[in-house]
Amino acid sequence: MNLKNRDFISLMNFNNEELQFIMRLSEDIKNGTDVSTVLKNKNIGLLFGVASTRTRISFQVGVQQMGGHGEYYNAHDLQLIHKESLIDTGRVMERYIDGLVVRMYDMNNYGAGRIALNLLAENTNIPVINALDDKDHPCQALGDIFTMKEKLGNDYKKKKVVVTWGYAERQKSPGVPHSLMTAGSTLGMNMVIAYPKGFDLDEEYVEFSKKQVQSSGGKLEFSNDIMEASEGADVIYVKSWKSLKKSSDEDMIMRNNVRDKWCVSQKHFERANPEAIFMNCLPIIRGQQATADVIDGKQSVIYDQAENRLHIQKAILAAIYGYK
Ligand code: CP
Repeated sequence: MNLKNRDFISLMNFNNEELQFIMRLSEDIKNGTDVSTVLKNKNIGLLFGVASTRTRISFQVGVQQMGGHGEYYNAHDLQLIHKESLIDTGRVMERYIDGLVVRMYDMNNYGAGRIALNLLAENTNIPVINALDDKDHPCQALGDIFTMKEKLGNDYKKKKVVVTWGYAERQKSPGVPHSLMTAGSTLGMNMVIAYPKGFDLDEEYVEFSKKQVQSSGGKLEFSNDIMEASEGADVIYVKSWKSLKKSSDEDMIMRNNVRDKWCVSQKHFERANPEAIFMNCLPIIRGQQATADVIDGKQSVIYDQAENRLHIQKAILAAIYGYK
């Protein structure tokens, strides 16, 4: 498998074999495969325009564990703040560094984050890795599917994975559900995407995923009823996202109207399979997307998910920097 020098922006750009390769590599790395020199003498920049705990720390630590140097740049501290163009920024950066991990989005301007990432990728010769934009969170989603495989076993593709919208007061990117849906459909998984009316995902991602399941043997369904969707679930993964077609004010009214109904609780797990697991990418506020007893309960795997970000990102970096 040769993924050397590939950008890692959307999981729509990776086929079944490539996704499986990265997940296998992640498992090997977690089990001790030595990648401690893969990034020797390499400098990886982390350009973040939006706050991050997990992604920032796991990338910095992961790069260091692979023998490289990871350096964090707050976009607001760079000359970008004085309107230096992204193209000039990228073309200068590539004279110093060997790869760029980027987080940029503004949910009041859907699509602008992806335009920024594409500008950097198209105008530089270094790999660009998406650390969450307004359309995808590929590192999170692949790490999450790796976690599902660990928890559900090798027949994880047959298990029912419910990715449900949950109330949060913050208006978040739909990157996680987009990336989970596209990767899940490419891998042939069985997924239900549940959300209140008005919170439909991007049609481009939905159409791509519907086509993928036709050839992968997977299953993809949509529901506007979280209780019905929870029936027989093996995974309930809650994630909030901003409505793509409504203004911020309209979205706030819509989400406040459905707040009580779209909070994952034990009543949803009573409908699910007895061994069902609870997932969320974090951060999460207890009592919003899910109740505290679910988030902190025995079915919750949220901290394993967070740990697996480190392993999957090391696998992504290893693949991009030539480990075979
Ligand atoms: N899940 C996730 O991406 O977390 P951070 O926003 O803290 O990086």
